[in-house]
Amino acid sequence: MSKPILELKDLDVFYGPIQALKKVSLHINEGETVSLIGSNGAGKSTLLMSIFGQPRAADGQIIYQGVDITHKSSHYIASNGIAQSPEGRRVFPDMTVEENLLMGTIPIGDQYVKEDMQRMFELFPRLEERRTQRAMTMSGGEQQMLAIARALMSRPKLLLLDEPSLGLAPIVVKQIFATLRELASTGMTIFLVEQNANHALKLSDRAYVMVNGEIRLSGTGKELLVNDEVRNAYLGGH
Ligand SMILES: Nc1ncnc2c1ncn2[C@@H]1O[C@H](COP(=O)(O)OP(=O)(O)OP(=O)(O)O)[C@@H](O)[C@H]1O
Ligand SMILES: [Mg+2]
Repeated sequence: MSKPILELKDLDVFYGPIQALKKVSLHINEGETVSLIGSNGAGKSTLLMSIFGQPRAADGQIIYQGVDITHKSSHYIASNGIAQSPEGRRVFPDMTVEENLLMGTIPIGDQYVKEDMQRMFELFPRLEERRTQRAMTMSGGEQQMLAIARALMSRPKLLLLDEPSLGLAPIVVKQIFATLRELASTGMTIFLVEQNANHALKLSDRAYVMVNGEIRLSGTGKELLVNDEVRNAYLGGH
């Protein structure tokens, strides 16, 4: 059995008096693709952001590669191999594709930058065609590809993605998931937050279902795809 790269243990997170995460425990093994599904406001983004310490956990532990990172700075976490593509495909609107990708690098030496950028263009050929185009003039799907590629520029060991399919046309969603599948096949560990349960569960080795800040169910992607509760609540009953 492979070992966990990330473990959350009994995580509590509050926004003022409101408890957004309640004793959340989960783990992600090296090389796995794991997704977290749940309705609007369930706490999915909060969970993902809390891995970076924003918001901070009030209680519980976040263990990354055996090290307790619960109280580490976001900078420490990023420079130790966790990268995230946040909800809402936040790219730098006035910068070109190339400039956005450069913003994703961490100082590991310039010799890698060209090579890494080329790797991103192979993964997302659309971005190569548009390398000098400013991000704000690109389509939603292209901006999402750029947000994922930028996160990958830091050569992460663990990639966190918050709703990469949000607001995109079905054909673009398919392309994004195909690329994620390709990425997963290279051995990348992926933790994916999605409302698109169908695509997410098909892609994932394992998944967790979050309801009102708590983990309600977990299992393999296959198991959850045929689970009655999941089908009724997240797969439109089909
Ligand atoms: N900065 C904040 N201040 C106060 N409350 C917040 C803040 N961010 C999120 N919340 C609340 O925490 C709860 C969980 O929100 P969160 O964004 O984590 O949900 P989500 O599962 O990602 O939802 P969605 O699918 O809509 O993105 C919600 O009730 C939300 O209103
Ligand atoms: Mg969210």
